[in-house]
Amino acid sequence: MFFLRIAATLMVLLPLVTAQKAIVLLRSKNYEDYTWGVRDNGDAYIKQGYGGDAFRILPGLSGKKNGKKTVSFMSLEHPCSYLRHYNFFLHLESSKNPRNASTFDENASFIPRPNLFFRGYTAYESVNYPNHFIRHGDFRLQIRPYDRHPLFKTDASFKPEKIVLQKRCSN
Ligand SMILES: *[C@@H]1O[C@H](CO)[C@@H](O)[C@H](O)[C@H]1NC(C)=O
Ligand SMILES: *[C@@H]1O[C@H](CO)[C@@H](O)[C@H](O)[C@H]1NC(C)=O
Repeated sequence: MFFLRIAATLMVLLPLVTAQKAIVLLRSKNYEDYTWGVRDNGDAYIKQGYGGDAFRILPGLSGKKNGKKTVSFMSLEHPCSYLRHYNFFLHLESSKNPRNASTFDENASFIPRPNLFFRGYTAYESVNYPNHFIRHGDFRLQIRPYDRHPLFKTDASFKPEKIVLQKRCSN
């Protein structure tokens, strides 16, 4: 009985734990074939098909913001590197050697707003630039102030799609 209860508790809690550290592709709402990805120089874009990259969604480096949960996006391919904004454009940068440690954590943290503009899609608001959301423009990912334009809503809406890493190609 006791063990059953533990098992039941684990079944309730485990999805919460894994959900927090989910590995995802972030799919664009209006360019359905495009997901977030980084170029060799670290600049972040929405990229077509297999061009996109997987990210691990972690609790935000900045901690909570006014009691609200925050998230940071860590590259799966480059561990310890996070998407952060710099001059309002998103870049992948290592947390081990950030350009400016005093603002790195906040520039790499976002408040997720599920279903803000569209059901099933999440908008990500900057922690230190209120009302600035991650959007794509000319395919480049950046933070921009919400201007109420319909295009802004679709450009700033993304679907975090969980992917499961299978170890099947080890040979
Ligand atoms: C933090 O973000 C702002 C806006 O993107 C940028 O101007 C600033 O340079 C960033 N700070 C650092 C240290 O990168
Ligand atoms: C780092 O960021 C802080 C806060 O924005 C700023 O005061 C400082 O001058 C920056 N340092 C460098 C080296 O950019």
